[in-house]
Amino acid sequence: MSEGTAKLESRNKEELQNWTSKQTYLALNNLIIACAELRIDACPMEGFIPEKYNEILGLDKQNLNASVIATVGYRSEKDHTQFRTKVRKPINELFETL
Ligand SMILES: Cc1cc2nc3c(=O)[nH]c(=O)nc-3n(C[C@H](O)[C@H](O)[C@H](O)COP(=O)(O)O)c2cc1C
Repeated sequence: MSEGTAKLESRNKEELQNWTSKQTYLALNNLIIACAELRIDACPMEGFIPEKYNEILGLDKQNLNASVIATVGYRSEKDHTQFRTKVRKPINELFETL
């Protein structure tokens, strides 16, 4: 193990929960990229009530916890928001080049 890599065993429950929750964003990233490749819309979301998702999906019973959610599908033709201009920062503002 390299110096910059913290040992998993030495993390307490809260640190492990924080770490595993962030891990889901790596999977989410792959989902969004795959959807973009296939020209399918994806909408990642936070601000939901994890306890409700855990209960509805039976995640509690599997010792799992919802940390992020994403809807995947084709946009409705009736959805007018699809024609709105995307808000995007210029690349030099978004990334710090070292
Ligand atoms: C219910 C709901 C919750 C969302 N929560 C978040 C959020 O917590 N953070 C965020 O950046 N975007 C959130 N979004 C916005 C979408 O993820 C959005 O697709 C994303 O910000 C990028 O948008 P764009 O690619 O269409 O510009 C939410 C959208 C919905 C409908």
